[in-house]
Amino acid sequence: MNTANKSYFKNSPSGARGMKKNIAVILGDGIGPEVTQQSIKVLNAVAEHYGHDFRYKFCIMGSTAIDKTGNPLPDETIEVCLESDAILFGAIGHPKYDNDPISKVRPEQGLLKLRKVLQLFANIRPTILYPNIKHLSPLNPKNLDGIDLVVYRELTGGIYFGDKAISEDGKVAEDTCIYTVEEIERIAHLAFKAAQQRRKKLTLIDKANVLETSRLWRKTIQAIATQYTDVAVDYMYADNASMKLILNPKQFDVILTENLFGDIISHEACAIGGALGMAPSASIGNITALFEPIHGSYPQAAGKDIANPIGSILSAAMMLDYFGLHKEGDKVRAAVNWTLTNNFVTKDIDPINFYFTSTLGELIADYVGDKIEGDVNQENIMLRKSTVI
Ligand code: IPM
Ligand code: MG
Repeated sequence: MNTANKSYFKNSPSGARGMKKNIAVILGDGIGPEVTQQSIKVLNAVAEHYGHDFRYKFCIMGSTAIDKTGNPLPDETIEVCLESDAILFGAIGHPKYDNDPISKVRPEQGLLKLRKVLQLFANIRPTILYPNIKHLSPLNPKNLDGIDLVVYRELTGGIYFGDKAISEDGKVAEDTCIYTVEEIERIAHLAFKAAQQRRKKLTLIDKANVLETSRLWRKTIQAIATQYTDVAVDYMYADNASMKLILNPKQFDVILTENLFGDIISHEACAIGGALGMAPSASIGNITALFEPIHGSYPQAAGKDIANPIGSILSAAMMLDYFGLHKEGDKVRAAVNWTLTNNFVTKDIDPINFYFTSTLGELIADYVGDKIEGDVNQENIMLRKSTVI
């Protein structure tokens, strides 16, 4: 089963030709810049081929921003994002902070603050399966057919944003998990609407047997469910759900959950697909929306032109859907499928016969622009020349 050709944001009104969009681009840390550059190539090919006008404004965040300004999220970046129609983001994080738990400034603070300031409250993470990389899935192949799930993760509340404290002697620390009914309701409506357009099943993942916030989630979802009688609702504790996701992932359609459980469950869900580098995501709110691959900054690969750009490119495809450019989004997804079926893959997928990050970006852009006719000249691709015979 291949769910790559699924369009998100079906409710976005269809975009006309000649659409003008301002896109804020945050290249970010590690492999962020090189994968995001491939998405820009692809978006440029979309603009040229379909007659749209995409303008980019580059801004900084994360470790790169700390190095330049001391601040992981400079005010200028917030301003550019607030004025944009959407944000394309690469990755965040640097090993020099990972091994320094007492560092006061951390790259991740930039992303968390941006999510909060822009009120990007719903993080949408689909699990995408591609037939020809099934062998990379950690699951038994017999359990893969029929998997089609998407995680709706609450992104601006919970323990990520509650009060934090550390005692003076450094021996006691605390993080507070806090949720309001309004915060739960706004993402719940999006998740229920998504379920209505899919297999009409929603699973709330929580720890209502232990946590007060989880009981509030359950109560709120039970109340909202009465407005969506065509959707079957299931409630599952997070520990059980993390097992079920491995043992019987087909049972899930839309997973709705709070911030921390959503972080963990969504990574587990995309690992099922076998290639973390190909997993996209969208974070939406009322002001603007942000699109980023789920993978991290992968510093070991940074600057080597070997990272998989598909997670970023499929995130850009979700951005096109969000703009109402569904045909264009589908074309990008078709291009991705085409590269995979022709074994144009990066090193994470095939460590021996692999193509470079930039080559994959060029191939996908050329496919989108209908510039690929007949067989592709493999030798030229290896030399990173034109992909067209
Ligand atoms: C993610 C990441 C972030 C999170 C980090 C980088 C703050 O893991 O988007 O999944 O925990 O939300
Ligand atoms: Mg995460």
